[in-house]
Amino acid sequence: MKLVNGYDLLWYAQAHRYVLPAFNTTNLEMTYAIAKGLNDAGLPGFIQISSNNLRLSNPYIIAELAKDAVKNCEVPIGLHLDHGKSFEDVKACCDAGFTSIMIDMSALPYEENVRECRRAADYCHFYGLPVEAELGALSGKEDEAADEGERKTDPEMVADFVERTGCDTLAVSVGNVHGLCLAPKIDIPLLEKIHQASTVPLVLHGGSGIPKEVIWQARECGLIKINYGSELRKAFIHTFGKAYEANHNEHDVIHLSLEAVDAVAQRAKELVEMINGK
Ligand code: G3H
Ligand code: ZN
Repeated sequence: MKLVNGYDLLWYAQAHRYVLPAFNTTNLEMTYAIAKGLNDAGLPGFIQISSNNLRLSNPYIIAELAKDAVKNCEVPIGLHLDHGKSFEDVKACCDAGFTSIMIDMSALPYEENVRECRRAADYCHFYGLPVEAELGALSGKEDEAADEGERKTDPEMVADFVERTGCDTLAVSVGNVHGLCLAPKIDIPLLEKIHQASTVPLVLHGGSGIPKEVIWQARECGLIKINYGSELRKAFIHTFGKAYEANHNEHDVIHLSLEAVDAVAQRAKELVEMINGK
């Protein structure tokens, strides 16, 4: 299949009551592994890459890799910019062929957050791409970005934010955390309040470590997308770390990379099946 437009993927998920995983890639191997994991599970989802990671792999190269990775897949897969940190990154990813965009200006004061999200949404909507925006902030560490400290999403601000930004999905802070060092504690009543106030479906960042029962409850509160980064990176790194521990002269990058692809694909498959109760 071709990479699927983000709107189509969201509609497909809503029609089938799927929660879409968005798996962070870092490189070629992880990109192919994510596509394989989704395809093996027979379930849809996103490959995503964060603005920070674009320093390592430019958007055109990632888009080409993703197109190639999904070309033999039989499930719908989109390519999403995760934590888009500048209008320039948003434009670069739209232009490169990404099919869905996040603009993350959640560290800015409210009015500036609204203004920057609106600007990104106007650009993306012109090209027919949906936009995820974030209200609130998560604890924990996302790639190399500093921990901003937790600011839970205020349900009172949700309707205004969604309307004025024009966002198509809303990333929320309800006790979810980035990374594996802190324990997530999802506040389901708060998520429900946000759901009632929001005209768009909700997104949870920091999926790694959230128990499946909590995700199933979140699905009843408007959850449509959940992000996984650390879980897959751990699966990738573990393959190399284990080999190095066993033999400090290990240097078989080809076989270890193939093994790492299988490990990441397996973890992606388990996660997409878990969130969808398969
Ligand atoms: O945007 C990416 C995710 O929020 C990753 O979070 O590393 O805790 O799974 P995670
Ligand atoms: Zn995130």
